[in-house]
Amino acid sequence: MNDGAIFLLTDRPDQSGPLESILKTVGHCEVMFGDRKPAFGTKPIAIVSDLTLSRRESIRRLRSLVSIDNRERIPVVCLMRSTSDGALRQARELGATVCLPAYTAPALVAQVIRDQVGAQAERASGVTDRGILRATEALTTLFDGAREGGVVLSAVEAGLIPILAAVRDGGLNRWLDTVWTHDDATYQHCLLVAGVAAQFVNFLHFREEDRQHFVRAALLHDLGKARIPQAILNKPGRLDADEMAIIRTHPVIGYEILRDSGCDDLTLGAVRHHHEMLDGSGYPDGLVGSAISDTVRLLTICDIYAALTERRAYRKPMPVRDALSVLESMDTKLEGRLVQCFGEAMMAVR
Ligand SMILES: [Fe+2]
Ligand SMILES: [Fe+2]
Repeated sequence: MNDGAIFLLTDRPDQSGPLESILKTVGHCEVMFGDRKPAFGTKPIAIVSDLTLSRRESIRRLRSLVSIDNRERIPVVCLMRSTSDGALRQARELGATVCLPAYTAPALVAQVIRDQVGAQAERASGVTDRGILRATEALTTLFDGAREGGVVLSAVEAGLIPILAAVRDGGLNRWLDTVWTHDDATYQHCLLVAGVAAQFVNFLHFREEDRQHFVRAALLHDLGKARIPQAILNKPGRLDADEMAIIRTHPVIGYEILRDSGCDDLTLGAVRHHHEMLDGSGYPDGLVGSAISDTVRLLTICDIYAALTERRAYRKPMPVRDALSVLESMDTKLEGRLVQCFGEAMMAVR
């Protein structure tokens, strides 16, 4: 995927040269005239509209680029041919974050973009850091509790909304880049799965309650590893048969810890069954097909994807497209329709 670009939408390309030149000093710039599309995979980091907004065609073009609520708060600078109250209101409704007269000097437009992109990046890293902090606190409390006997399940709640907000507003890539600096491999894995899960449910527009439920299951899914020796969890390279047998006890251990803490059935099922496969080749119960719930099917996909793309000192992370190909090749084990949807959610990542 390409990095982001400043999209300059214009209906007077013969006059856009000076503005394009100076915007290029801020970042990569894509000039879009008529129905010209940006290079495949390029996402906007800012949009400059040099369009006559009284034209229906201009409105359509701007709308197609600015999402309805512009939750990522991408800077949208509208260069206004008219600065009447009605024109300004219309620009705001179209998602403008700043309106400037069309005759504004290109250097000033570039400065505004620079300031807004900088402020957006600061907001995004703030929301990401907050999300990681809250989620790590939740995991620490839960894993410490699991090692000592039982967990205080309510600890997980404080991590859910910050994770969803971080992935939605800061972007999954920023989340992953930050999580990868975490020193504990199991926490890191749980944070990765939770972030990927958040991206998936945000992309699918689940109801807020269902989003939180799914991210809760993702955060808790490997809790049973709290009682697996660190030497096995952190062993570089392949595990032998005995070590593998020990690792494979973690879904049932996690299930039993959480059952004794009064956890809900949906989450319990996800924790116990996240290594089950549709063809019955999974564990611990060898479930087949319809015995595996939708929540579990979704979580299993997130879990495998996170494991494939994890960074480890002893091996290179698998590129996104290769990891998606591996998921697609597991067509007897994972539900193809969900894998396809998941792939779309990952390719939509900023
Ligand atoms: Fe697991
Ligand atoms: Fe896992």
